[in-house]
Amino acid sequence: MHKIKRLAVLTSGGDAPGMNAAVRAVVRAALYRKLEVYGINHGYEGMMNGEFEQLNSVDVRNIIQRGGTFLRSARSKDFRTEEGRKKAFDNIEKFKIDALVVIGGDGTFKGAGVFSQEYDIPCVGIPGTIDNDMYGTDFTIGFDTALNTVVESIDKIKDTASSHDRTFFVEVMGRDAGFIALQAGIATGAEAILIPEIQGQEEKLKDYIAKQVELNKTSQIILVAEGNNMGGAQEVANKIVDKFENLKIRVNVLGHMQRGGSPTAFDRYLASRLGVAAVEALLDNQRSIMVGYKNHEVVHVPFNKTIKGHRNVNKELLEVADILTI
Ligand code: F6P
Repeated sequence: MHKIKRLAVLTSGGDAPGMNAAVRAVVRAALYRKLEVYGINHGYEGMMNGEFEQLNSVDVRNIIQRGGTFLRSARSKDFRTEEGRKKAFDNIEKFKIDALVVIGGDGTFKGAGVFSQEYDIPCVGIPGTIDNDMYGTDFTIGFDTALNTVVESIDKIKDTASSHDRTFFVEVMGRDAGFIALQAGIATGAEAILIPEIQGQEEKLKDYIAKQVELNKTSQIILVAEGNNMGGAQEVANKIVDKFENLKIRVNVLGHMQRGGSPTAFDRYLASRLGVAAVEALLDNQRSIMVGYKNHEVVHVPFNKTIKGHRNVNKELLEVADILTI
């Protein structure tokens, strides 16, 4: 294995607040260790298209507080093909890159794992997604900010819900995972929470609403993770409306506002620690690993584990939500 002199960093998949802070940390940690750093724009797409630029300390100045990713991001289909990865490797050779840091979710790590094996290039991943659904880390960069954005929005919706005696179905992100819905539901005192990890929620929800009606509860928030098995917030509302004609129902889909905005202190801190840890890991001859955060410590988790493993929702949290909605 030859010595690493030049590394490249990219962001891939859905953007997440704190990605900029992570890029900044990677760039500065690399410079501190006397390495050269390149940024690759538009994730793997840009790697295939040769969108490389050298980064210096000033290039990452004043971005720690900014949402999104100044490197841009993309979800790449072509990188899943051998031809696409060959194109990407040609550019890695052209720009004399010895190692890669990829920031994103499990799709990003899957790509990096295959690429690293095919072309023998060390890759380290940093978990960045608002969904918090990565195996091997307690937190992903962006989750805390998204959670706070959702909580703030629901608090506002609750004002109208209670003023007008309405039932709101609020849809939050989480195609495959209910971490945002579950934790935001607990934090806002939502009356019911639907998440993808739990099957057969329809009867329970109907029984619950019937009970609320009987108790004369005039307003409620039903929090719906987009990937739950009853469908999106509108579909869930449609399934309820016939049975409870007197409910004044409104639907609110929070959408991409959840992915934007200035990262919270925690996300900036996490991104900074993991960015430095990623560079240190590469210099320590680590490859095909994710740097994660478990029990307030940085950990190294092999890509195969993060890809194959499934992060389950904490059963205790489900119970807390149930207990608090009686
Ligand atoms: O993976 C993050 C995420 O925000 C999911 O929660 C959501 O389902 C998805 O991205 C939306 O992706 P896009 O912006 O590509 O529509």
